[in-house]
Amino acid sequence: MKIHQHRKNEHLSLAEKFFKTQSSNQLDEVQLIYSNLPELNLSDIDIRSTLVGKDIPVPFFINAITGGSSQTDDINYKLSTVAAKTNIPMACGSQSIALKYPSLSPNFSKIRQLNPNGFLLGNLGAGHSYSNFNVAQQMIDANAMELHLNVSQELVMPEGDTEFVWKDNIREIVNNSSFPLLVKGVGQGLTPMTIKELADIGVKYIDLSGKGGTNFIEIENRRRKQKELAFLQDIGMTTAQSLVAAKLVDEDISFTASGGIRNSLDIVKCLVLGADNVGISGLFLHILLRQGTESLIEYITNLKIEIKKIMLMLGCKNIDDLHKLPVILSSELLVFKKQMTEL
Ligand code: FNR
Repeated sequence: MKIHQHRKNEHLSLAEKFFKTQSSNQLDEVQLIYSNLPELNLSDIDIRSTLVGKDIPVPFFINAITGGSSQTDDINYKLSTVAAKTNIPMACGSQSIALKYPSLSPNFSKIRQLNPNGFLLGNLGAGHSYSNFNVAQQMIDANAMELHLNVSQELVMPEGDTEFVWKDNIREIVNNSSFPLLVKGVGQGLTPMTIKELADIGVKYIDLSGKGGTNFIEIENRRRKQKELAFLQDIGMTTAQSLVAAKLVDEDISFTASGGIRNSLDIVKCLVLGADNVGISGLFLHILLRQGTESLIEYITNLKIEIKKIMLMLGCKNIDDLHKLPVILSSELLVFKKQMTEL
């Protein structure tokens, strides 16, 4: 148990150590078309959206981070308090450790106790069985479950998984579960081909989790002297590329965007590029660790106001309007889009 808890602590401290205030998610290469005559009042702007098909009051949430050791449980309790006070959804980190060591499950359950009416998502890897997903869902009375795909992260860990035959398992979970399932990456981007394959087995909600923020190849390699496949940290699709590519897929999927989100403008750009909501991990963790719970509450409160102001500037009254807004892409993103279309 100690080894697993140590790993959780290391992920947390390394994510913070290598947090970059300037992300490389390529959203800077997306230009929004604004209006000089919006004909709107700030009070007209409605930022409600959906997450896994359910109504949510704001179009962003605290994405999966941690849990399972005393240090990381403490982070979860603080995040849960922030989520309750700001009324935003929250995902906990992988509950796999609590399935392996059931004595840890009350620590995850406490996340729900601190936020009894909040929107909570549980989290497990794709190799977990349908029954494990049920146990994890019940552990925190989750409104939905996240299922993460993290092939490259496992491959760079000497102790990582080597078996990745997952599709039948995901199909079983999607087809039988009573809760919605959000299939997510961990910061490398999901390709259009993967999105199509997931749609074919019944998945309806996907978190693209693009490159440009927390990078697990970098984190795993910083945990040991002997580097494994370090160049893999450059492989992946940025958050902007992931969104541009996802738009090319003709399937009925609701997208979450995440990966290196740094501010309200990044959030709005993701929504304009087609996402229904945006997940944030590294940035919220950074603010919590550096400045504490109250500062994170204040930051999130401001994010809501800033999103409204940006939407007003764009002449968009609600998230549907944002989805219809045209964008100007950089030549790099345009070439990427063209090549993706031809694949
Ligand atoms: C994560 N992330 C993550 N994702 C997941 O599905 N299960 C997990 O247990 C974890 N653990 C975890 C720990 C830490 C310390 C961080 C910072 C992140 C990945 C996370 O949900 C997200 O997909 C990526 O971090 C990319 O988003 P950001 O961090 O760039 O906003």
